[in-house]
Amino acid sequence: MGGVMDKQIAVAVFWGVLAASVPAMAQSPSLTIAVDHPTAKVSSTLYGLMTEEINYSYDGGIYAELVRDRVIGHGFGALSHWNMVARGNSQVHISVDESTGPSAALTRSIKVSVTDATDAAPAGLQNDGYWGIAVRPYSVYSGSFWAKTDSDGVPVTVSLENDATGVVAATAKVTGLTSSWKEYTYTLRTGNVPVSKNNHLILTVSRPATVWFNLVALFPPTYHDRVHGNRIDIMEKLAAMHPQFLRLPGGNYLEGDHISERFDWKKTIGPWVDRPTHPSPWHYQSSDGMGLLEFLEWCEDLKIQPVLAVYAGYSLMHEHVEPGPELEPYVQGALDEIEYVTGGPDTKWGAQRAQDGHAAPFPLHYVEIGNEDEFDRSGSYDGRFAQFYRAIKQRYPDLQLIATTPVKSVTPDVLDEHFYMPAEQSFAEAHHYDDHSRNGPKIFVGEWATREGDPTPDLEAALGDAAWMTGLERNSDLIIMASYAPLFVNVNPGGMQWATDLIGYDALTSYGSPSYWAQVMFGANVGTEVVEADLANAPSRVYASVTRDDAHHKLFIKVVNATSDAQPLGIDLEGAGRVAGSAKLTTLSAKTPNATNSITDPRAVVPVEQQIAITGPRFTQKFAPYSINVLTVNY
Ligand code: AHR
Repeated sequence: MGGVMDKQIAVAVFWGVLAASVPAMAQSPSLTIAVDHPTAKVSSTLYGLMTEEINYSYDGGIYAELVRDRVIGHGFGALSHWNMVARGNSQVHISVDESTGPSAALTRSIKVSVTDATDAAPAGLQNDGYWGIAVRPYSVYSGSFWAKTDSDGVPVTVSLENDATGVVAATAKVTGLTSSWKEYTYTLRTGNVPVSKNNHLILTVSRPATVWFNLVALFPPTYHDRVHGNRIDIMEKLAAMHPQFLRLPGGNYLEGDHISERFDWKKTIGPWVDRPTHPSPWHYQSSDGMGLLEFLEWCEDLKIQPVLAVYAGYSLMHEHVEPGPELEPYVQGALDEIEYVTGGPDTKWGAQRAQDGHAAPFPLHYVEIGNEDEFDRSGSYDGRFAQFYRAIKQRYPDLQLIATTPVKSVTPDVLDEHFYMPAEQSFAEAHHYDDHSRNGPKIFVGEWATREGDPTPDLEAALGDAAWMTGLERNSDLIIMASYAPLFVNVNPGGMQWATDLIGYDALTSYGSPSYWAQVMFGANVGTEVVEADLANAPSRVYASVTRDDAHHKLFIKVVNATSDAQPLGIDLEGAGRVAGSAKLTTLSAKTPNATNSITDPRAVVPVEQQIAITGPRFTQKFAPYSINVLTVNY
């Protein structure tokens, strides 16, 4: 104890001597932190996730389905991902059959007409997956399909075959097909095969027969072994961000281009065969495999809460529903949706959820009414919001209701604000909320990103993000939630509709952009209280915010140095008393702001941790050029 105190006194004297004898030091950049003076609570829900079906985020992304266009026909690319297979002298023709399908929702199918086939020369069809199908050794793949045939009992062989080598990694036989539509399941088990992403799924018969297929599906092992669940690598990346919520299901995806193309949640629940699928406004058809219940289970798997966005009567091509009686069915739809999420088994929609496989209700605290309704030129949002607000509050008074643009007729609990910015603007906006009124609704920054880099952000973007996040954190008494967008991109050609996305992937692997790592660093070191911190004499493009976790005596000092020079910062921990002799410094940096990660070089820019010696509550720390830093001090 005495030793530490002596050291502190010595350091204080040293600083005092320097200050007295070298007047220029008074101008040195400094960060004075009133450790014992918290100014606000950090919102416990500050950082979360925002997603929608964009950039092949679900189909071809986190939703682990390996078969592309598993639903045949309408809205999907005809048979562009399905091809005939004809071995030896076999003969086959494949086509979309508009006249038969497995259900009222799915009225089409692929007709596979095999006129000549044998065991040695089978025929059928194949699917090329989402830019390939990943195969790993010693893995179990669970598959299913709906089918009927004109040749009772014809066996179907299902195989995973490598595009380049033709090596079959796994195979299974499905028997019992009849002339009626029925669902069949199969399992593919790989042995000692190499890891590869260029595989395709083949379904063949070895005698003449016509077979109709739909909903051909195949899943690899999933996160938490969820049946029809999510990709493990991507879920692990999300978990590492320490998110607190998932805003779902969008974004523009909630709205659709047209009212008929909105996210109509009732058509996304229950068996796949009852889900008609729908067009995403991002120019491809959604399988709706990621339906309302799957979103909620995603939340459950990450132990986070849903922020449920309900369709509010506006679609992107400037179609709106007038407030009043016309809007009532949509309001009722939202009430039903909330009941599906939160209701007990004694409620109509809670019972439906139980029947769909999840008896327990999900927690729900926030409901967002619409998305970006400032684009509704009719000016109907005020009335639409008020109608939803009154109906929801009457039935669920504890729910916090989020407006997507300011309204006058009622006061929303929370306002969702979106920011897509070049780096220069992110830097300029780092103090955006410092002087914001605290008398209005709380703020949810439901979409934001520094847009530099394509398909995923570079270090310059991450620096802009981190500068912006210092402002979110400093003002987290006001900003109760914030989520980067978009979250995902399939990096294959044609996979991206919106540039600058946090996490990139192909069929086999995924990677975090520098911006992703900035999120990880901030999300893992949030703290519980904002601490007063004065950054003085620092060059522009140096930013800081400080929080503490008093229960664990930890101080989180975030410093963003977006300049090309190393920045020494005199750090003064006022009121800290005793501090530990070393601190953890986590740094994300690179030689240039253009440095980035990619599918082929996924870890070029990643955080590096080091322990640094601290001589007492006043010390100088040098921060690397182009760096994002979290200094964790135990006090
Ligand atoms: O994140 C991409 C899009 O940006 C969202 O769908 C929309 O809400 C916003 O305009």
